[in-house]
Amino acid sequence: KMLAAGGFRLDPVASAPSIEDIRRLAKKRLPTMAFDIIDGASNHEITLDANTRDLRDVRFRPRWLTDISHIDTSVAVGGTTLPRPYVLGPLGLQRMIGGEGELGAVRAAGKANIPFTVSTASNWSMEELADEATGPLWYQLYMYKSDQIVSRLISRAKAIGAEALVVTVDVPLNGKRYRDHRNGMSIPPKITPRNAVQAIRHLDWTRAIMRPPTIGFRNLAGEIQGDNAVSHQEFVAKYLANLTLTWENIADVRRQFDGPLYIKGILTPEDAVRARSVGAQGIYVSNHGGRQLDSSPSTISVLPSIVDAVGEDMTVVFDSGVRTGDDIAKALAVGADLVSIGRAWGYGNAAAGEKGVLRVLEILDEELELAMGQLGATSIGALDRSFVDYPEAWH
Ligand code: FNR
Repeated sequence: KMLAAGGFRLDPVASAPSIEDIRRLAKKRLPTMAFDIIDGASNHEITLDANTRDLRDVRFRPRWLTDISHIDTSVAVGGTTLPRPYVLGPLGLQRMIGGEGELGAVRAAGKANIPFTVSTASNWSMEELADEATGPLWYQLYMYKSDQIVSRLISRAKAIGAEALVVTVDVPLNGKRYRDHRNGMSIPPKITPRNAVQAIRHLDWTRAIMRPPTIGFRNLAGEIQGDNAVSHQEFVAKYLANLTLTWENIADVRRQFDGPLYIKGILTPEDAVRARSVGAQGIYVSNHGGRQLDSSPSTISVLPSIVDAVGEDMTVVFDSGVRTGDDIAKALAVGADLVSIGRAWGYGNAAAGEKGVLRVLEILDEELELAMGQLGATSIGALDRSFVDYPEAWH
């Protein structure tokens, strides 16, 4: 205790200065096949790289000698005020990283009073997560093949008190993630000699993923009870893969949910305008963290044109590539209203569960306030394009 109080670095998570450091801790803790589930993306990972690289190409224009004694990071969106300009975005499959899966993250979000977005692909059911939640919940919906299942998911989301519905539209087909293929990472995972060696070398992880309940999509489990579709492929074909989805289906969802509706995965002004016309309150400018169509543009590069097309009338949420508080400030300055955190919290969860996610939130807050203070922007509303320079081609 005295050593810790004396400032020795006994706790690498608590003393990690950045999310990149947290990512390295996660990498050390997990076998490659599990780390790559979070860290990897589609094909050559061109879009994954572009997201972070292009955020670096946004440069700040600080205005010194402004009174920064009071910095306010709150934002008003969807009829409520949030203490921070970000939410924890939907990440499925969290039990594959070991530990408690989404449970730790939902607790961390509650402690920080930040909305936690429950993914349809979470490894705990939305009801199980709601039991652990002490803060606001949002629900992310995949529009599966069965209308009945979709309607049931929406009514269950209402029953747990979900304050917003986020419909993800960029997964008509699953992206091809080379790392997962190389690692034999499928559902169920392939038992290769390399995976067996990794499992033995990471016994904590192995024990955690073997612990009941069996890892699966627990939001769906109850909906298909009694059906003995045997293989994962048959299950996907029968209930999940929906190749006939169109904007009409979004209008159906709109009728079933009264609160704020967001469309996640928008990359063009055309689709943003379309989302507005079907009654969505907001959009997520997102390329799914580079995990879907590779060679999609980075989200920061398309943000200006999308904000210019719909910014006044819609809540624009920026997603994909956020790794620092500076990134949050940049996206807000370019014109986003809110930011959604993806892998950043996934790395925290992988490194140390609830504690790791709390450290990630702390890092983001420290860095965001530091950036705002140094810019001379004392509120989120004050952050506008006069605080940033970015490439002409994005205008
Ligand atoms: C995701 N993402 C995601 N999105 C979604 O709408 N539903 C989901 O179930 C998931 N699951 C998921 C799992 C994992 C492991 C990752 C890394 C991502 C996408 C996520 O919400 C977000 O769009 C991206 O993570 C944003 O990119 P960054 O910030 O992670 O680079």
